Amino acid sequence: MTKTSLDILGIETSCDETAAAVVRRLPDGSGQILSDVVLSQLDLHAAFGGVVPELAARSHVSALDHLIAQALDDSGVALDDIDAIAVTSGPGLIGGLMVGLMTGKAIAMATGKPFFGINHLEGHALTARLTDGVAFPYLLLLVSGGHTQIVLIKGVNEYERWGSTIDDALGEAFDKTAKLLGLTYPGGPAVEQAALEGQAKKFRLPVPMRRDPRMDFSFSGLKTAVRQMAQEQAPLSRQTIADLCLAFQTSVTLSLDDRLTMALTRFSERFPDVKAPALVVAGGVAANKAIRATLQARADQSGFRFIAPPLNLCTDNAAMIAWAGAERLAAGLPADRLDLAPRSRWPLDQNATAVIGHGKRGAKA
Ligand code: KG4
Ligand code: ZN
Repeated sequence: MTKTSLDILGIETSCDETAAAVVRRLPDGSGQILSDVVLSQLDLHAAFGGVVPELAARSHVSALDHLIAQALDDSGVALDDIDAIAVTSGPGLIGGLMVGLMTGKAIAMATGKPFFGINHLEGHALTARLTDGVAFPYLLLLVSGGHTQIVLIKGVNEYERWGSTIDDALGEAFDKTAKLLGLTYPGGPAVEQAALEGQAKKFRLPVPMRRDPRMDFSFSGLKTAVRQMAQEQAPLSRQTIADLCLAFQTSVTLSLDDRLTMALTRFSERFPDVKAPALVVAGGVAANKAIRATLQARADQSGFRFIAPPLNLCTDNAAMIAWAGAERLAAGLPADRLDLAPRSRWPLDQNATAVIGHGKRGAKA
């Protein structure tokens, strides 16, 4: 009997979340999350103000088997009935990637099921099809702790990177800004919270890359500007910290808006026949309400639908990895060999040239 749907087991261990999930792809192309378990290592790394790769890898080792068992259990699908195993094989921290890959390969080998090594960014890129059934082509803004990119999603395995950060990722800039202002890790939520009490226009920061004809981003200069202002204002009062946070958040928001305005125009010119095109946002920074509101307004103004998957699917998870595996399987793309190596860097758009700079979390794909 031919199966009418595909059930995929997904595994994600590329950074500081250990995650496993089972996702079903129905013949009509829609998807269902049958289970989705995520164990965040936030507490483990908080004391260090950032992710410690060795600690992350060790923690993945001790948690992953249990999480996979739980994901299978929760899904009600027996391992025998799973159609393929999909595992993040890059980009990310190499130790963590190895843990996920070894486990996924072992399961694939023991069961004889197809194995897919998934690009983590592809997981983020295709999530909107799982949650909202978005049709190709669409535009993705990925804003996380490790990546800041505008990508044209043309089809499964057809990605065009239009812009990327030339230094820090946006989440990384939030984290560094928070740290230099004495706020907690992760910095994004702390900066957003503090900015609520900030007075507008108390401090003025430049808007990075404004009107630059490339569609790239840059955030490290901004962080330096905040540092200089903070040094001039020291010792910092609670109010000054709030004012600086608001200035920083406003500046990055204006920069995103400026870059996206260009991207939406370019999309509309290139795809004049696409009715109600979609702007999709993904990554942890998408949690920021001021940023979300600005993106929504920009999309409205440009005639785009604004799609922001629920937060637990915007941040790192294994459902997106399982879904990417399902999309690949359904599109007839070949499974990977079991000697597939992890990749710390792996641009989604293989034709994109490398961007110049790199931040704390390594060179940007
Ligand atoms: O996507 P994510 O959970 O993990 C990866 O980096 O893959 O993103 C985490 C990043 C962190 O840098 C965090 O500071 C940022 O997202 N973030 C935020 C907010 N919540 C999380 N940045 C700004 N505002 C927020 N509310
Ligand atoms: Zn991610």
